[in-house]
Amino acid sequence: MASGQLSRDKALECSSSRHACHVMLYSDTASQLFGRTPIKHIVLMQMRFDGLLGFPGGLVDPSEETLEEGLTRELLEELGVAVPVSVEDYVESRFAPSHPPTSSSSSSPLILHFYVKKIEEEQIREIEKAAASTAADHGLEVLGMVRVPLYSTKSHAGFSCFLSHSFIGNARSQLVDSLLRLHLVSPGELRRALRSSQR
Ligand code: APR
Ligand code: MG
Ligand code: MG
Repeated sequence: MASGQLSRDKALECSSSRHACHVMLYSDTASQLFGRTPIKHIVLMQMRFDGLLGFPGGLVDPSEETLEEGLTRELLEELGVAVPVSVEDYVESRFAPSHPPTSSSSSSPLILHFYVKKIEEEQIREIEKAAASTAADHGLEVLGMVRVPLYSTKSHAGFSCFLSHSFIGNARSQLVDSLLRLHLVSPGELRRALRSSQR
C-alpha cells in the first residue's frame, strides 16, 4: 500500500482521528469546444472559500454517521442536491499531508477518504444550477463549481493550465490518479500537460 494510505476498516478503527470524505463526480459528454475540440468528460471540482481548488465533501463524524451518509450530507450542503454516494464508489483512505499546526487546528490526525462516482451529464447540469443558487454553502464555503478542462488547446493551455493552480490537501493527486485510472486522460496526455505546466 502507498505511503500514508490505509484500508477503510483500519481508518475507521482510528477513533481519535478526524475524518473527511470527498468525491470526484464525472460524466461523459458529446459536446465540443468551439464545435471542434471534443470535451469527452466533465469532471467537477470546486473553488473553495480559501481560494484553493478541491473536491466537494467535508468533515464526517463516524461515531454519528457512516462515511457515506456524512459525505452525502456534505454534498447536500455544498451542491444543493442530494447525490447518494455508496461504499461501491469508495476509492481509498489516506492520512492528510501534515501541515504546520495553527492555533485553530486540532492536533488529532486527519484521515481523507476519497470516492469517485459517474453520473449523467444532465445531473451535472442540475448540480451546477443548484450549487450556484439554492446550496446552503454557496458564496460561503464554496465560491463555485468548476469543470476540469481535460483537453489541450493550440497554445498548450487547457489541462496544463488547470494543473498549475493551487489545490487543497492531496486534491491534485486525487484528480490526476483518478483521471489515469479511469482512462479519462492517457499517460501521454498527462505527461504533455505536466511538461507544459512547468514552462
Ligand atoms: N478536497 C477538499 N478538502 C480536502 C481534500 C480535497 N480533495 N483533501 C484534503 N482536504 C482537507 C482540507 O485540508 C480540509 O480542511 O480536508 C479538510 C476538510 O475538508 P473540507 O471540505 O474543508 O471540510 P468541510 O466540512 O466542508 O468544511 C468545514 O473545514 O476546511 C475547514 O475551516 C474549514 O470551515 C471549514 C471546515
Ligand atoms: Mg462542507
Ligand atoms: Mg467541504
